[in-house]
Amino acid sequence: MINKCLFPAAGYGTRFLPATKSMPKEMMPVVNKPLIEYGVEEALEAGMESMCIVTGRGKHTLMDHFDKNYELEHQIEGTNKEILLDDIRRTIDSAQFTFIRQREMKGLGHAVLTGRELVGNEPFAVVLADDLCVNHDGEGVLQQMVKLYKQFRCSIVAVQEVPSSETHKYGVIEGQCIRNDLFRVTNMVEKPEPGTEPSNLAIIGRYILTPDIFDYIEQTDAGKGGEIQITDALLRQAENGCVIAYKFKGQRFDCGSVEGYMEASNHCYKNLYLKDKDIALKQERTEKEVDLAY
Ligand code: UTP
Repeated sequence: MINKCLFPAAGYGTRFLPATKSMPKEMMPVVNKPLIEYGVEEALEAGMESMCIVTGRGKHTLMDHFDKNYELEHQIEGTNKEILLDDIRRTIDSAQFTFIRQREMKGLGHAVLTGRELVGNEPFAVVLADDLCVNHDGEGVLQQMVKLYKQFRCSIVAVQEVPSSETHKYGVIEGQCIRNDLFRVTNMVEKPEPGTEPSNLAIIGRYILTPDIFDYIEQTDAGKGGEIQITDALLRQAENGCVIAYKFKGQRFDCGSVEGYMEASNHCYKNLYLKDKDIALKQERTEKEVDLAY
């Protein structure tokens, strides 16, 4: 039902300089996989097949990553290293990738509007790949949100409780509680001044948006930081219709900050990488045992 996922990936990533001087933030590896690949896998799990990526200057490696690399593949063909390309090959084969360039970095709202040509007139998901979300015990965050969309048929933003001292870094919502994890949004403030935040529910980088959001963004002037803010457009949408905020199940790491990136790397190393390696080793052992038995 929601087939397209938009990845705004044109930002400068200044918090990670100098690493991001010539490398897109979204290509930074968490263990052995770039951030954006985690996001694409989450979208695939939620049933989306069309990945629309908003890029900017110096971001061509994003395109290369989701394409074949004939030279490399030929080089490792038939060797035990080929298995290392299994995941990305599967991902490339399972989805379509389209790219559009944001020529001027005028903010997240503007990046989403730039994606309009790729998305068209249908509801779509948005993933900010520098927010890495995992839910080892159940469905991924986007999948949880798609289920909610089927029920509510309006825009949905993922939110997380953060300490008051952190709210100034986020878009913060105010809402009527519908269920212990669901709120109908009544107000939203982008990066509120300390002490003025309407709640401690911060919007993180997962959205389901209905296509009328594009018209709201078009009518939105530059806001906080001189940027066109998606939060301002969402507030208009909430005032004229409905926007739901959802306290998702799982964990989210802010990989746009050095601390969050380090946490994510440690977490994924222990909970994904080592576990996968363990399974692969067990499989290899079983295959050897079967071979010996014959
Ligand atoms: P951030 O607020 O994290 O900005 O953008 P940034 O430039 O990437 O990073 P810092 O703060 O300078 O370190 C949130 C998301 O919106 C995208 C970014 O790529 C990121 O995924 N974005 C932001 C755009 O695509 N275009 C923009 O003009 C601004």
